[in-house]
Amino acid sequence: MSHNIQPLLNKHYLKARSATGVYITDENGKKYLDGSSGAVTCSLGHSHPRLLPFMKQHLDKLQFVYRSQFGSEEAESLATILFEVSPGKAYSHSFFVNSGSEAVETAMKTAIQYWQEKGKPSKTRFISRWKSYHGITVGALSLSGHPLRRQRFEGSLEKYPSLKADLERDTLERQMEELRQVIDKIGASQIAAFVAEPVVGAAGTAVSPGQGYYENMKRICHEHEILFIADEVMTGLGRTGRWFGLEHWNTSADIVAIGKSLGAGYAPIAATLMTNEVLEPIKKGSGLIMAGHTYSGHPLSCATAGKVLEIIKEEHLIDNVVKQGQYLKSGLERIQEKQGVIQKVRGKGLMLGVELDPARKGLQAKLIEQCFQNGLLVYPAVGGPEGTDENGILVTPPFIITNAEADELLEKFDKSLREIA
Ligand SMILES: Cc1ncc(COP(=O)(O)O)c(C=O)c1O
Repeated sequence: MSHNIQPLLNKHYLKARSATGVYITDENGKKYLDGSSGAVTCSLGHSHPRLLPFMKQHLDKLQFVYRSQFGSEEAESLATILFEVSPGKAYSHSFFVNSGSEAVETAMKTAIQYWQEKGKPSKTRFISRWKSYHGITVGALSLSGHPLRRQRFEGSLEKYPSLKADLERDTLERQMEELRQVIDKIGASQIAAFVAEPVVGAAGTAVSPGQGYYENMKRICHEHEILFIADEVMTGLGRTGRWFGLEHWNTSADIVAIGKSLGAGYAPIAATLMTNEVLEPIKKGSGLIMAGHTYSGHPLSCATAGKVLEIIKEEHLIDNVVKQGQYLKSGLERIQEKQGVIQKVRGKGLMLGVELDPARKGLQAKLIEQCFQNGLLVYPAVGGPEGTDENGILVTPPFIITNAEADELLEKFDKSLREIA
């Protein structure tokens, strides 16, 4: 009997024994190509030859200090790197936490507090989209339009998802008009921020809006004194072929949540980034953001994340994300032409989504299992116009993937689909 709780309580999970590069080896010695980077996390792949010695060495230096007692060089330097890579150097301050959900919660609290300090304490509510996933904690889940993850807790959640316009099919005018209508209905005096994932991950199979969307949504928000929070937990730090997903729209947010690729699977770390305009009134007012956790700004996690970003920069990995992203997308499109069950292939960089025919119930779960049997890991997502079809697959391998490994991924995906379809 196992004393450890895993997601499915009645399933037996094979144990991972080791992992190197884009491969994970299980307890029986079988190899799997990590086509999902775990949960879209392991951007540098596994056992990175520059990262491991760095982490081991760092352990001898400093393990933990509590953030209300000491600062650390590691957190300072990570915040500086994040500032430098942010679009137009907009994100001048970082608040470190341990998970994407915490980063989103901290973003919500920062927005509420910002308005309090500006003398507008009634601005406490949020607008989010119908198709979204922002995290599993109660605040972040309240923002999320992921019906399957919400339904059991509906009674304890706020109903923040209110924008239903289709990101691909509806016009920009319709999308903007809907935002204006929702603001009018709730009342701008009640709304702290609009929250959105630049490219929707688990709740949208890599769907994203067209050109002009974020610039205009942000403009409408600012016209109504509403902040714009970007949830870049999945899209951030190179995954879409830019440092930040919003750069595809030539814009930036007021507050940003990042996670996943920040620690790249080597250390649990996430962060809430913000502009100087957001922090300044809080600094001048109460002088404290009422958020944070025991392990916030853990020196080893910060040092590791700093090294992750250095490696992404020095090894030009974002260029490889663009290159291999295009290569994999074309490969998936070729599979789509052959296999009628694929309805859509989309995405940016190495955040690719495949939507299967929703009429073929159970196909998604079968495909993920068949890929697993064939030594390939892919990640489930929901799709369809309402975001309720369990027909999405995310293909999100590590940034270091080579052409040969991308070929192997495509071959395994094609084979698995043929075997079950
Ligand atoms: C866009 C987005 N936001 C937030 C989260 C929550 O992050 P975490 O699982 O690290 O709490 C996720 C996780 O999948 C995510 O994809």
